[in-house]
Amino acid sequence: MPTLTQLKQLAKEHGTPLFVVDHDVLRKNYAEFRRRLPRVQAYYAVKANPDPEIVRTLYEAGASFDVASLSEFKIVHENIKSMPPKRRQEWIWDRIIYANPIKADATLEYLNRYKPLVTYDNEAEIGKIRRFAPQAGLILRLAVPNTGSVVELSSKFGAAPGEAADLIEKAFRAGLVVEGISFHVGSQCTNFQNYVQALELADGVFREAWSRGYTRMRILDIGGGFPAPYDRHTRPFKELAGILNAEFKRLFPPEIEILAEPGRFLVATAATLVVEIIGKSVRDGKPCYYVNDGVYGTFSGVLFDHCRYPLQSFRNGSKELSAVFGPTCDALDVISSAEELPRNLKLGDLLYSRDIGAYSTASATNFNGMGPTKIVAVNSILR
Ligand SMILES: Cc1ncc(COP(=O)(O)O)c(C=O)c1O
Repeated sequence: MPTLTQLKQLAKEHGTPLFVVDHDVLRKNYAEFRRRLPRVQAYYAVKANPDPEIVRTLYEAGASFDVASLSEFKIVHENIKSMPPKRRQEWIWDRIIYANPIKADATLEYLNRYKPLVTYDNEAEIGKIRRFAPQAGLILRLAVPNTGSVVELSSKFGAAPGEAADLIEKAFRAGLVVEGISFHVGSQCTNFQNYVQALELADGVFREAWSRGYTRMRILDIGGGFPAPYDRHTRPFKELAGILNAEFKRLFPPEIEILAEPGRFLVATAATLVVEIIGKSVRDGKPCYYVNDGVYGTFSGVLFDHCRYPLQSFRNGSKELSAVFGPTCDALDVISSAEELPRNLKLGDLLYSRDIGAYSTASATNFNGMGPTKIVAVNSILR
């Protein structure tokens, strides 16, 4: 993680707002994920941060990839475009999953040549895949409890456990091949019981499908949700990994291939944002600072990801409760209405937020013509 002196130096060199990605942290997070879950193949969920340099570093570290659109597919594909066709095809089959249960016809048509793995959770999708991507391998997405996860996903995606085996049967009857089952327990999942229940449900669906003769199903995809350590109250990944490893052993024989789609866990702690105070006022007795990035930009996770990114000053001194606003003309552009910051910060002073790598630049807009925020990499070359 860059020191305060490095951050100030980078801001001087590149200007602000500045999104600083530490690639050593990416490598460290990926290595930790692999070390603690040795049975699991990690498919980085590109949606969390599609910066091509981040994808490149994780590719070099040996990651596989979860993509949710053609443009994400192409970002990953850039890294393998010079492979001989046969090897590239094998790599795509083994290392990419298109994990968006809803796909446009044109997307399926484009993907079909690559024989990808794709998820689905409804009957209409079976018809589309049969017509436009019959070469794809299918993964049935199951709806599972998302209780207590910061970002809930099961209200939009996943087949009810009671209809899952029928959907598998329908896909096989349509001439397609279902390779396995996936789920997502919700993002920033700190209720580890969600995973335990989801694994039980997946086990039940496997058994039902096998009993109907679909014994070739061998992939279990446990999705994302692995929590980033945003504060000291977050239960550690080590504890979750212990629970998962025990459940894998109890429920799934070694011939079941287990994969996961971690997004946030790999990138959240790898980035720091540096912003500059460009305006100040006092409103209702409270100091208010206007900075040059906001919720329409890199702080978009405040709205879309229900995330808080504490702001810190490079200055010391006694603190007071302050508000921090983004630069646009919209009053929704509030980064924090209660931040402990040193008294009487000056125009031109810098602030920074750590752990802002996931769902931040990824969902930033160009509203008011203010964006995109410059991204710089540190430690991008392996020393
Ligand atoms: C299908 C799918 N897989 C993986 C992820 C990544 O989840 P996380 O960032 O919680 O690990 C998401 C996030 O929305 C998702 O929708």
